[in-house]
Amino acid sequence: MRFEIVTLFPELFDVLDLGLLGKAKDAGTIEVATITPRDFTHDKHRTVDDGPYGGGSGMVLMPGPFAAALDHFDAQRRGAPTRRVLLTPPGVPFSQSHARRFSRLDTMTLVCGRYEGFDERIRSWVDEEVSLGDFVLLGGETAAVAVIEATARLLPGVLGNDQSAADESHAEGLLEYPQYTRPEVFRGQGVPEVLRSGNHAAIARWRRKESLRRTLARRPDLLESAVLSEEDRALLDEIARER
Ligand code: ADE
Repeated sequence: MRFEIVTLFPELFDVLDLGLLGKAKDAGTIEVATITPRDFTHDKHRTVDDGPYGGGSGMVLMPGPFAAALDHFDAQRRGAPTRRVLLTPPGVPFSQSHARRFSRLDTMTLVCGRYEGFDERIRSWVDEEVSLGDFVLLGGETAAVAVIEATARLLPGVLGNDQSAADESHAEGLLEYPQYTRPEVFRGQGVPEVLRSGNHAAIARWRRKESLRRTLARRPDLLESAVLSEEDRALLDEIARER
């Protein structure tokens, strides 16, 4: 899958060279192409922003260099389709379902704003707008890295085994159960007995129950839309009695 990024700070995407994503790049599973609107300016200072029409403080990113950057990617792809996603605080909150949907694309183009704002016309050239959450970053770059990471890890071959992508928090609409590794006791804290029992059915039941318990405690909103079995409802009853 190809990730195209329009950004004033291409170096921020060097983090994608590390770890599993770096390996995915080397293997050709993902391709990352950055382009900076600054390369499409025509003045000595390579200006990408200007004061706002109507007055007021702060600077606004100009549409021209962004349009040229998007055109450049289109030309590189020779008209093959992409999906353009703008990273902004007022976007739709990014979630696992976005990642799943994006992971089915051949190419996506992430557009990162910066500073106080960008010319509204830039909005009209993208397909959707996503936010990383209810907080304001200095620009869309960190959000774009998060979107790329969440999307790329769903691509076949990026994670060591195909099970891990399915197992985790949010994949099934529930939070992940607690995990332990050696040692058996660390600074006075032990490992739940059942995990050392070798009883696979009991372990599966415990994990499901702890997933439900954690989701109920931390993200009850997720339980509303999760697909729950009869067994899950029984476990939730048990949890309620324990509280
Ligand atoms: N740009 C600035 N803040 C952002 C946020 N919270 N999510 C996505 N893009 C952003």
